[in-house]
This record gives sequence, C-alpha cells and structure tokens, in this order.
Amino acid sequence: MHLEHLYIETERLILRPHILEDVQASYEMNLDVRVSRYTGDGGVVPRETIERRIVEDVLGDYQKYGYGRQAVVWKATGQFIGFAGLKYLEDLQEIDLGYRLCYDFWGKGIATEAANACLEMGFNHLKLPRVIGMVLPENKTSVRVLEKLGFLFENCIEEDGMTVEVYGKQAPQNG
Ligand SMILES: CC(C)(COP(=O)(O)OP(=O)(O)OC[C@H]1O[C@@H](n2cnc3c(N)ncnc32)[C@H](O)[C@@H]1OP(=O)(O)O)[C@@H](O)C(=O)NCCC(=O)NCCS
Repeated sequence: MHLEHLYIETERLILRPHILEDVQASYEMNLDVRVSRYTGDGGVVPRETIERRIVEDVLGDYQKYGYGRQAVVWKATGQFIGFAGLKYLEDLQEIDLGYRLCYDFWGKGIATEAANACLEMGFNHLKLPRVIGMVLPENKTSVRVLEKLGFLFENCIEEDGMTVEVYGKQAPQNG
C-alpha cells in the first residue's frame, strides 16, 4: 500500500501516518479532560484502548482504504501534538474529517491548518466527492473549525445516545 500522500508538510506542521511510538503521546493527550470532553469516543480511556485504536483501527484503515487519521507533528520541535485526518465510516458510508490536539497547542489555528491539508489531499489526490464532519453541538471550537473550512450544517443524528451534528463539504468544482 502506497501511503506517500499521507506525508504532508504545511507552514508549521508535518502530517504523517501514525506509528507505534505515537501511542504514549496520544495517550497523554487524551488524559487531559479538556481534550477528551467532546470527542464522543469514550473520554479518557486506558492506554491499551489508545494502542488498539492506533494499531488496529488507524493502521487498519491505511491498509483497507489508503487513508486514515494522520499524526500531527510540530515542525519546529518534531514532537507529536495530535492527529488530523480522514476516516471512512462504514455505518454511514461517509468519509469523516477529524482532529484533536494537545491542549498547549490550541488557539493558534493549528487544527484549521492541519485539517485543511487533509481535505486538500482528500479532494485532489484521493478524488473524494465529499467529506463530512461530526461534532457535538456544544463543541463550539470544533464547529468553528468546520465553518472556517467551508463545511455546511446538514442534519443531526443520534449516535450512542448522543445528538451529533453532521456538517458536509463537497469537492470543489474542477478541483
Ligand atoms: C477542536 C480543536 C482541534 C481546535 O483546535 P485549534 O487549533 O485550537 O483550532 P483553530 O485555532 O484552528 O480554530 C479554532 C476556532 O474556534 C474559535 N473558538 C475557540 N473557542 C470557541 C468557543 N468557545 N466558541 C466559539 N468559537 C471558539 C477560535 O476563535 C477559532 O476561530 P477563529 O480563527 O475564527 O478565531 C481543539 O480544540 C481540540 O483538540 N479539542 C478537543 C478534541 C475535539 O473536540 N476534537 C473535535 C471533535 S469533533
């Protein structure tokens, strides 16, 4: 499986496929309740859960679909600061854009920078017709990121007993 398209450099960031060594940093990021509050995937979870998500889910997605959530690295220091990227959702048959950052890196436009790079790759390289973003309505920061990226609100769905807002963005014409 060729994964070259998952290596992306932006102004301040490197996006790359996840590796096993990301498990500890990812676990530490998720320990922070400010980070895990609105993620909709169980909040703070044990290290084994993070390891399974990276090794089975994310690396599995790369093999199955040729893309999946990417690690976000702060270029200046080389440190893991979170993830961003696309994920195929089998139940909805949609491709979801997600992002999560260590708290110290919030408020600097980093999620927008990373997510924008993932979207460009998805539309231009993978030729995806459309991408969605799913967010808990109270997660105003994430809603704002989706809006800045040009996503439009579509509808609400129920997932695991929670109301989730679905936003969508179509591939740009001639893009
Ligand atoms: C969501 C997250 C990735 C955003 O990262 P970030 O790098 O701080 O985002 P950006 O700086 O690119 O953009 C944030 C925007 O939200 C705005 N914002 C921040 N807090 C806000 C609030 N309470 N209400 C409304 N807007 C808010 C910021 O002002 C900014 O918009 P602006 O550029 O117009 O000023 C980060 O907060 C995070 O990791 N949260 C926990 C995980 C999570 O919730 N992920 C998304 C699940 S759907």
